Amino acid sequence: MTLITTPSTLPPGPAEPYDMQTNAASFAHLSDWVGYGDILYIKPQQRKAPTFVLNHPDYVKHVLVGNHANYHKGVGFERVKMLLGNGIIVSDGPFWRRQRRRVQPAFDRSVIAGLADEIKHINLRLLARWQDSARNHEVVNITAATNDLALEIVLRAIFSDDFDRLLAEQGTNPFACLVDDNRRDLKLAVKFRALTKLVAEVIARRRQSKRSKQDFLGIMLATTDKDSRSAMLDKELIDEVMTLIVAGSETSATTMNWTWYVLAVYPEIAARFYAEIDAASFSAAPEYLHLPELDYSRQIIEEVLRLYPPVWLYSRKALGEDRLGDYVIPAGADIFISPYYLHRLPQFWPQPELFDPARFSEAAIKARHKFVYIPFSAGPRRCIGDFFALVEAQLHFGLMGRHFRMEYLGERVVELAPEVNLRSKHPLMMRIHER
Ligand code: HEM
Repeated sequence: MTLITTPSTLPPGPAEPYDMQTNAASFAHLSDWVGYGDILYIKPQQRKAPTFVLNHPDYVKHVLVGNHANYHKGVGFERVKMLLGNGIIVSDGPFWRRQRRRVQPAFDRSVIAGLADEIKHINLRLLARWQDSARNHEVVNITAATNDLALEIVLRAIFSDDFDRLLAEQGTNPFACLVDDNRRDLKLAVKFRALTKLVAEVIARRRQSKRSKQDFLGIMLATTDKDSRSAMLDKELIDEVMTLIVAGSETSATTMNWTWYVLAVYPEIAARFYAEIDAASFSAAPEYLHLPELDYSRQIIEEVLRLYPPVWLYSRKALGEDRLGDYVIPAGADIFISPYYLHRLPQFWPQPELFDPARFSEAAIKARHKFVYIPFSAGPRRCIGDFFALVEAQLHFGLMGRHFRMEYLGERVVELAPEVNLRSKHPLMMRIHER
């Protein structure tokens, strides 16, 4: 006898209707609701469409890779659009594909390798400031310091020495509103969008000058799409520049913030981290070529991204009907995937709350389901800056680890602020000691 199974209509989920968002309330609800299983259904409250939260790597793989063409960016991206225009983090369809092809060459490994020297110099300036702080026994706000650092790194990667000109002309970093202002609301969007004028001026000067530069902007200016053979229009270029500034600063900053936290609170892990740095072959500061020697640092950073994934929730919109396991996903459904919860599934991560960098040894990575670790997402919409972010963090910790040990002065358990990015609710204050 053949048993015909008909898809049951809806996965389990909470009785009450609710509209998920990237905020602390949704984060708290999810912590209760992920117990419903691999996929959960939430009735809409104000919205029209039902919500499905996926919490199994097979479903994640299906939506982000297998049937990615059926999914566009979803809830929340309209807010990001106010900040970024139609840059690749929010655009969809053929326009996104063409823009991604035009931005991609800027993230080639050879370009990142070329930018490593600039990143080193930014860190060397911070090193001098931290040496002063250490000598003066000052308490340092590590959250603010890593915010400033990541912002400067991405700005110099985009503009290189045009950033010095902007600083000189404006008397201050015009993009500092991103780190000075924690809110991600309309007011900030207006302030930030006003900066497009400055970006347009830099672009105009670059177009006039005959000198080409190997920074992100220089490469984007020179890249033509292979089908249309056309380069980006100014408006498109401005949106992509704004996108890289926002997408590439807070994410990297929070990663470095959390990494300093784990180094300060786990002495055994810190001891191995320092031993690796002391054994590495660089003299004053690590260069790009030394990064393979900092493999334990990489493992620490990857484990930080497991437990504190900066992008802790992302959303998609189903264009047409789809099927996930036994369930039908109707056209128009809102889909959410949370790396934070996926990265804690006990069937894939033994003792999920334990901070253990060995989870990211080559053998352990190979043995695991690839889609149960997605701090940078996966598939065609995977983060374009993943490699850049890792290089940036390794260069920072390689240099600073040679010189400093951090004494964390706050509560051991840090309160989380799950907004657009998963930040620490309060700044992390640390006393810096020279080693
Ligand atoms: C640790 C640091 C970072 C993390 C955790 C991170 C995470 C992510 C995630 C999860 C996405 C996909 C979001 C989605 O699918 O809805 C994404 C996309 C993106 N990220 Fe990152 N990111 C980081 C650093 C960077 C950096 C340094 C840059 C650029 C300088 C960057 C630029 C972008 C861009 C442009 C996209 C959109 C890609 C596309 O849709 O084609 N990110 N990032």
